[in-house]
Amino acid sequence: MDPIAYVNGSFVPLSEAKVSVLDRGFLFADGIYEVAAVLDGKLVDSASHLARLERSVGEIGLALPETTARIEELQKELVARNQLDNGMVYLQVTRGADKSRDFPFPKGVTPTLVMFVTAKDIVNAPSAKAGIGVITVPDIRWERRDIKSVALLAQVLAKQAAAAAGAGEAWMIEDGKITEGGSSTAFILTQDDVIVTRPNSNAILPGCTRKAVVALAAERQLRVEERAFTVAEALGAKEAFITSASAFVQPVITIDGKPVGNGKVGPMATRLREIYVDFARATAV
Ligand code: PDD
Repeated sequence: MDPIAYVNGSFVPLSEAKVSVLDRGFLFADGIYEVAAVLDGKLVDSASHLARLERSVGEIGLALPETTARIEELQKELVARNQLDNGMVYLQVTRGADKSRDFPFPKGVTPTLVMFVTAKDIVNAPSAKAGIGVITVPDIRWERRDIKSVALLAQVLAKQAAAAAGAGEAWMIEDGKITEGGSSTAFILTQDDVIVTRPNSNAILPGCTRKAVVALAAERQLRVEERAFTVAEALGAKEAFITSASAFVQPVITIDGKPVGNGKVGPMATRLREIYVDFARATAV
């Protein structure tokens, strides 16, 4: 079956889903995206993703063409039309297609809204049991990483380097500290059992999974500290892991080929993953 996509008000076969070559997402990366997980046909942590979408578009002066309530309805309809049980909904909104390539915002142009789905069994992903390796790369991105912009070339290069090295993610380094993964948030568990992740700022994307995991850990009286950490500290930690909508919680067992802790998947990452999956199932809409 040809998957179904949503493009500017219509559900169409993905192979026929098209936007203009003048679309500002294509020409300038002038757009915002969101990725939400789908579990058992339901949207995971949807309110959090829609709140971040609203914030991101606000930060670039772009008005959503639909309310977030309507967007959620459309996402649900897209999941249903594709009979998707497990995977992700990708959503992108751009400043639309003007008559020519002018840098300033065009007037009277309707934003482009596109959505499609990808099937993936996130809960049973083999890498969650086996753990992944990460490589480190310099963080060469712009200064507003809190905005979920479609300008992802730095992450494309970082994740390509990771893939070429046989690693599952790239951790980006700035001023000697890890900012985040190419498409995920970075965490460690220190030797004295403190869960550490970098505080939200313009330096990182405020991860929805990060937010939920930090809250779920705190509710269980686990110690959480929000601060930046170095690669040396991560290598000397008990455990390391990443979080994202498309991976949930995934253990990191090596950094640049060197083992984290004992080099095995640790109990905290495993526990937080279970806690997150329970939360995701219980709150999905
Ligand atoms: N990436 N940091 C970056 C740079 C990201 O691109 C992502 C998500 C995250 C984690 O955020 P969340 O927990 O809300 O997914 C952190 C998505 C999944 C992607 O680009 O595919």
